[in-house]
Amino acid sequence: MKILGGSANPRLAKDLAQASQAALARCEVRQFPDDEVYVRVLDPLKGEDVVIVQTTHPNGRLVELLLLEAAAWDQGAASVTVVVPYFAYSRQDRAFQEGEVVSAKALADAIAAKADRVVTIDPHKEHILGFFGCETVGESAVPEIARVLGREGTNLILAPDRGAMERAEAAAKILGVDCDHLEKKRLSGDTVEITPKRLDVRGKSVAILDDIISTGGTIATAARELKRQGAQRVAAACTHGLFLPGSAERMRHAGVDLVLATDTIEGPWSKVSAAPAVARALSRLK
Ligand code: R5P
Repeated sequence: MKILGGSANPRLAKDLAQASQAALARCEVRQFPDDEVYVRVLDPLKGEDVVIVQTTHPNGRLVELLLLEAAAWDQGAASVTVVVPYFAYSRQDRAFQEGEVVSAKALADAIAAKADRVVTIDPHKEHILGFFGCETVGESAVPEIARVLGREGTNLILAPDRGAMERAEAAAKILGVDCDHLEKKRLSGDTVEITPKRLDVRGKSVAILDDIISTGGTIATAARELKRQGAQRVAAACTHGLFLPGSAERMRHAGVDLVLATDTIEGPWSKVSAAPAVARALSRLK
């Protein structure tokens, strides 16, 4: 097996190679002045089972992934497994309005056209896995995130909404702490309170666990409320940290004490390696 890491996840690809005792194939990736992407594989791939690691955010990284897949086949790979640690466009997982494209399906089709198997981490919704039309495994990095939250003294895990409860419950179970989800309660015509459905946060070290943090708006709104309700500490944790400009400030102003994410998107808050989760997923493939 050879790991071929694109420019999105150099650290994750290296950690994965180490965890699975596989060689890391080198490649050169650069951009032409007009933003077109250039890819050149520098190590032999003939007859190898190649595992490409590449998150598809931002858009140029998707193009790079398609080129890496083509390059692996051109160089004589025996098989190509694509690891998409963060599958961008996954929030457009159905047509919300007539005429809308299901972007997640369109991009899954493009990726799967030259892949034998696909692996992704904490997909936004489980049914997205079916979009690839080839053997696809989704694995969760929640166990790795939970361990870090445990070291930080977290004693209550909150899902931002009911739909995100499964991940929050999994983390709470690992830590042996309580778990709840946030709910919007309308107090009057123009006042809404965000509060945990069942539990009291007073004096608690709370972690809000989401799959994606993008603008930080969801976390900031919840954190402000939780602090007002007496939470002693609020951590914001996610698998995929997009952290758009302004998000860090927004969360800090709302009283968030700690931000952490995995390295499915590599950045300053990637304090948790997703490599063990990817290795687990690869071991589940047929
Ligand atoms: C929504 O469906 C996702 O699970 C996240 O809650 C959302 O993407 C977070 O976005 P933002 O950080 O912009 O509030």
